[in-house]
Amino acid sequence: MNILEILAKKRDGAALSEAEIGFFIDAYTHGTIPDYQAAALLMAIYLRGMNTDETVALTLAMARSGQQLDLSGFPGALDKHSTGGVGDKTSLIVVPILAAAGVPVCKMSGRGLGHTGGTLDKLEAIPGLSVERSVEQMLAQVRAVGACIVGQTTQLAPADKKLYALRDATATVACLPLIVASILSKKLAGGAPAFLFDVKVGSGALMKTQSEAVALAEALVAGAEASGRRARALVTDMSQPLGRTIGNALEVAEAVALLTSPGDAEPRLKALCLELAGQGIALAQGGALDDGRRRAQKALESGAGRRAWDGLVRAQGGDPEATLPQALMVEELTLTETGYLQRIDTQALGEVVVRLGGGRVRKDDTINPAVGLELLVRLGEFVEGQPVVRVHAETQEAARLAQDAVRGALEVGGEPRDEPALVHQVL
Ligand code: URA
Repeated sequence: MNILEILAKKRDGAALSEAEIGFFIDAYTHGTIPDYQAAALLMAIYLRGMNTDETVALTLAMARSGQQLDLSGFPGALDKHSTGGVGDKTSLIVVPILAAAGVPVCKMSGRGLGHTGGTLDKLEAIPGLSVERSVEQMLAQVRAVGACIVGQTTQLAPADKKLYALRDATATVACLPLIVASILSKKLAGGAPAFLFDVKVGSGALMKTQSEAVALAEALVAGAEASGRRARALVTDMSQPLGRTIGNALEVAEAVALLTSPGDAEPRLKALCLELAGQGIALAQGGALDDGRRRAQKALESGAGRRAWDGLVRAQGGDPEATLPQALMVEELTLTETGYLQRIDTQALGEVVVRLGGGRVRKDDTINPAVGLELLVRLGEFVEGQPVVRVHAETQEAARLAQDAVRGALEVGGEPRDEPALVHQVL
């Protein structure tokens, strides 16, 4: 088989066969196809799309690019995955809550992708913590502390490890078949019998409209069920950042604060985490949804979720009490306009954090975990000269550029407005 023929075929809009997709994944994983040809194919897929058969073939080829975990020793296990958003630190909160509620979680996460942050980058803000674990270490950790959150490795989902980084640096992220294959291949390789998907929709999500998000949710659930897994998807709001922070260390601090003092948490972040955990418990272990919600609430309010977090962090080499990295300066931004916060260009806020150094522009960029934004107002809130955002930056110039960009991302107007619903749909 010839990669140039495959590239030309997709460039011209034809469907690729299962064999062609399998050949590409195998050769790219083993390094016999270079990044530039893989990048060309990603862009062709982005522009031309893939039909259902191609998406299934891509998913299965990627899932089989490495080992597939056997979690049969962990009855009632669950895997949870978000399609990505700005300030989305739910995995850092939901996974410990699930573990504390007796639901084993062995989770492969991702790094920052485009303007969205990634759980692995957030976890690495914790001094000493490693997201690189062998299969044996992962299974031992789930046995010992109930959960692990790790990255793709050369053993597990290696095709996604390479393609994910390449998509991030080639503007080929927001593409339904590539997202489905990336997420599902990791979940299938992870071996859990049940998957909970959090499909984000809105200005900070990869999917900007409800119909796009529902199509993604349907494809994820159908793909999981076709592979014999139980699956549920929640389509949840991303028309403003989730919680109060965007940026790796800031988000870890917010997640830990929520697990420690849930009464002080930003209400929507807490509500979403509890709903995801409640849905996850019911899906994984088969009880009534209300019972799952009660168990999630108890695991959080009793402090068991915080203890599970500490266990996970220690098991992965981190110190849960360690001081997190801090940026050199913190600057507050006020607006000259008065009125209700009407709209947030949430993607633009995510891009500000990438430019501050909190995300990657090139595949091998090093991330600065300390930089980011704190959002001090929510959609619908009345703005009247109070600080609206705190910028955490390393230089005065970076802080100034960030402030200018944030100003352009916030729209204030005379009409009162409600915050949008948190959960738009459950599939
Ligand atoms: N999360 C992933 O793992 N992959 C994507 O493509 C998007 C979100």
